[in-house]
Amino acid sequence: TAEELVKRSFSGPPFTREEILCLLRAGEEEAEVLFTAADRVRAKVFGPVVHLRAVIEFSNFCRNNCLYCGLRRENRRLPRYRMAAREVVQAAEEAAAQGFKTVVLQSGEDPYWTPERLAEVVKEIKKLGVAVTLSVGELDYEDYALLKEAGADRYLLRHETADPSLFAQLKPDSSLARRRQCLEWLKELGYETGAGCMVGLPGQSLESLAEDVLFMRELQVEMAGIGPFIPHPDTPLGKASSGSPFLTLKVLALTRLCLPYANLPATTATGVAQKGGREAALLCGANVVMPDVTPYHYRLFYQLYPGKAQADPHPNAFAYWQERLRALGRTVGQDPGFSPRPQDAS
Ligand code: 5AD
Ligand code: SF4
Repeated sequence: TAEELVKRSFSGPPFTREEILCLLRAGEEEAEVLFTAADRVRAKVFGPVVHLRAVIEFSNFCRNNCLYCGLRRENRRLPRYRMAAREVVQAAEEAAAQGFKTVVLQSGEDPYWTPERLAEVVKEIKKLGVAVTLSVGELDYEDYALLKEAGADRYLLRHETADPSLFAQLKPDSSLARRRQCLEWLKELGYETGAGCMVGLPGQSLESLAEDVLFMRELQVEMAGIGPFIPHPDTPLGKASSGSPFLTLKVLALTRLCLPYANLPATTATGVAQKGGREAALLCGANVVMPDVTPYHYRLFYQLYPGKAQADPHPNAFAYWQERLRALGRTVGQDPGFSPRPQDAS
């Protein structure tokens, strides 16, 4: 029952690989129990509070060639842009003025944006009194250290898939071992660290999704981004099918049960794959929304997958989401929304 799952989440033996797999296989009815349990665990830790994070996608140049992603270097059809440092700071100022308490700086792995250049922008944005999250990919330990020193609070680096051979196929420039190393460095340096995966990748099994949940639990990540794979026509996976929204919600709910205190966003892709998907995610364990605040003329070109640029059309994303969350009976967090430690949870 849901009560038993909630109890197990806070004390008692951790969920086994077999139990996770069994819940991933759940049909509609059984899944309701899982979703209810995840929602209760979320409510116990965070109450009705949802934290909003303003995402600024400041460059769509990428040196990597991930098979699933529209920003991959071999996608010559995509016009590339790079915001100037001043433009990034200005976008952050506007987000802070709207009420956002966290700014997320995200980009492809753009060699122009050296850690030193990015550190200067981080220092400027930290003057606004907001938390800064970085999401700029794989760097060396020293670079992560430099950016932490500059004031960055958190770092998002999805592991994408915990299946090492699928990872190697889909991300030919890296390896799962290297990804894990980066995540361990980030934790060691004191970042709140986020991993996460896509659901429904071609060649991904339910067993490997169970490994994704276990991977995130093993690393005890403070954040996890989970969303369906959405095929981009200008990539080698353009003809593959989308990830199932239902399966995505099951992975999200299981992650909530395994990591009660983690910040889990209702991801943009979840909303693109299914109308009302982000609301559905907020009812299955998610407690964060990350609206895109990138200036429109750039946003159109940050095409990880189709439909992304149209997901957050309102010019004041903060006010817009405040209203949208009110309809769910949720309130918006007025603080940076760090991951609570068990003893501080509400
Ligand atoms: N479908 C869904 N998510 C994608 N991402 C990249 N390409 C796609 C896609 N086609 C996700 C990856 C990456 C994040 C920034 O976007 O998980 O980490
Ligand atoms: Fe680059 Fe990230 Fe896209 Fe891979 S997923 S091509 S690293 S932007």
